[in-house]
Amino acid sequence: MNNQEKYEELTKEELLNIINSIQDDKKLGLIWEDEDEEIEIEYKKHIPILRNNENLNVLTDDKEVNHSLIESDNLFALQSLQTIYRNKIDLIYIDPPYNTGASDWMYNNDYIDKNNDFRHSKWLSMMSRRLKLAKQLLSEIGFIAIAIDHNELFYLGVLCDEIFGERNRIGTVTIQHHPRGRTQSKFFSTTNEFTLVYAKNIDNVEGNFYLNNTPEETTEDFIRAREDATPKTRPNLYYPIYFELEKNKISLEKPAKNFIEILPLTKNGMRTWKLVKDAFLEELEKENIYIEIKGEEYRVKRKIKRQKSKLTTNWIDSIYDANPHGNILLKNILGNNDFAFPKSIYAVKDFVQILTNKDSIVLDFFAGSGTTGHSVMELNKNDNGKRKFILVTNNENEICRKITYPRIKNVMKGYKNKKNKFIEGLGGNLYFYDVDLVKSENSDSFNFKLSKILVSNICMKEDTLKLFHKEKDFLIYSNSDKKFTLIIFNEESIQLSIQHLPNDYDTLMFYIYSLEGETFEVELSNLKEKNIEVNSIPFPAYFNIKN
Ligand SMILES: C[S@@+](CC[C@H](N)C(=O)[O-])C[C@H]1O[C@@H](n2cnc3c(N)ncnc32)[C@H](O)[C@@H]1O
Repeated sequence: MNNQEKYEELTKEELLNIINSIQDDKKLGLIWEDEDEEIEIEYKKHIPILRNNENLNVLTDDKEVNHSLIESDNLFALQSLQTIYRNKIDLIYIDPPYNTGASDWMYNNDYIDKNNDFRHSKWLSMMSRRLKLAKQLLSEIGFIAIAIDHNELFYLGVLCDEIFGERNRIGTVTIQHHPRGRTQSKFFSTTNEFTLVYAKNIDNVEGNFYLNNTPEETTEDFIRAREDATPKTRPNLYYPIYFELEKNKISLEKPAKNFIEILPLTKNGMRTWKLVKDAFLEELEKENIYIEIKGEEYRVKRKIKRQKSKLTTNWIDSIYDANPHGNILLKNILGNNDFAFPKSIYAVKDFVQILTNKDSIVLDFFAGSGTTGHSVMELNKNDNGKRKFILVTNNENEICRKITYPRIKNVMKGYKNKKNKFIEGLGGNLYFYDVDLVKSENSDSFNFKLSKILVSNICMKEDTLKLFHKEKDFLIYSNSDKKFTLIIFNEESIQLSIQHLPNDYDTLMFYIYSLEGETFEVELSNLKEKNIEVNSIPFPAYFNIKN
């Protein structure tokens, strides 16, 4: 039943109650027809839990960063991530469906077109549920950046002000992603879209809003060529500079032999240098002065390092053009491209650069073709970073299996582009997950079953993803930092499991099936001098991850 039909059945009194409650609730802000999501109703009694699909992992090197790709509706993925990454994600970058009216997304199994009177409401219902869950994942120094176009810009802005707080609004960036414009448009030819940026808490974030941490190096002539800069008007800026040809040495002292005397002579007459002698010598000391020889001419040049200017909110540059740097790039990686509207890799990369540090965790839960993952890998390569990405996408039109996954795999391992040129892999490991919807029951046997299903979740949380040893009653996982995770389903096997640990582990995470929350002090007493943490599974938090 749609909302209109629902209201037609209500009495006048019931309608008045609804109107009063709306008036009481809100003074300023968004009001929309919230429509429940069918999948959520259907799986009300289920617990969403991540499950690693080992066959699809892409492993290049133990020591590299472990990234994740989750194939699932993002509502379940965001719920399942709550016990692993609550308050831990430093950047969420998303590019949700724009709700253009051109059936570009589905709600409750219906494509939403422009004739749907409730299309903004449905979109807001979908987004608000996900953004609230997403906010809980953001770390105290975290940011969220959301791409959008004019169709939902205004509603999204108010929704984000409500969820993240107007005070935490960092800015709205305009990106020229389609410089040729839409020539068929009746009115403006649109060339741009927007990205809204919010901080989790504006008081805690720094942000490095320069695109390059390393200053840009340029060179300039050391002659001040302006008409008013003459030896007469500025005598202290006028002096000879000597260049010893054989030694390639520059000085203000006249050398004994084999030198060139250089004066600030231009075709318009004698001028001055840009700096007085002392400042010149300082620059010389820093190796910022050199001589450029062009035929008979010797020119004094100066290298300058400039911090690039602060990023503006207007990103107009050919690198943001989504056609060459999104569409065509994807074609080169996959050999074909059945995906509409990937972002320019540079647009996403620039957000990742300014809003993360080198070991941040980045989440994109509308991952599409995986541009965010690709950007994180490129940025890591450029600055030796260890950023980790988590991508979530559904498999609508087989996008996950045919686009997202092969793109990330190719970029990690290397691929041949359309011109048959091999593009080196960027490295990293990918762990592939889906979400298991486990029907919840109130029984010990269910808790035991749940503990077994939680293995992927525990390994992801601890970042110990390599299976080290396996027995019926316990599992041992490890990583290259000598961290070990022991997962025990039967407390009788504690001693046996410990015997399988290497002597030189650094950290031990100990997970044991226990309904009483015991600490196993006695059993673990001989391990106590090491860094060890004991957890009982299933964690109580698991029964409350849906909001
Ligand atoms: C606009 S695209 C993102 C494009 C991406 N930024 C890129 O550069 O390729 C949005 C993607 O979100 C996915 N999506 C839409 N609704 C979803 C949902 N409820 N759960 C998971 N993925 C969803 C769609 O399959 C679509 O590929």
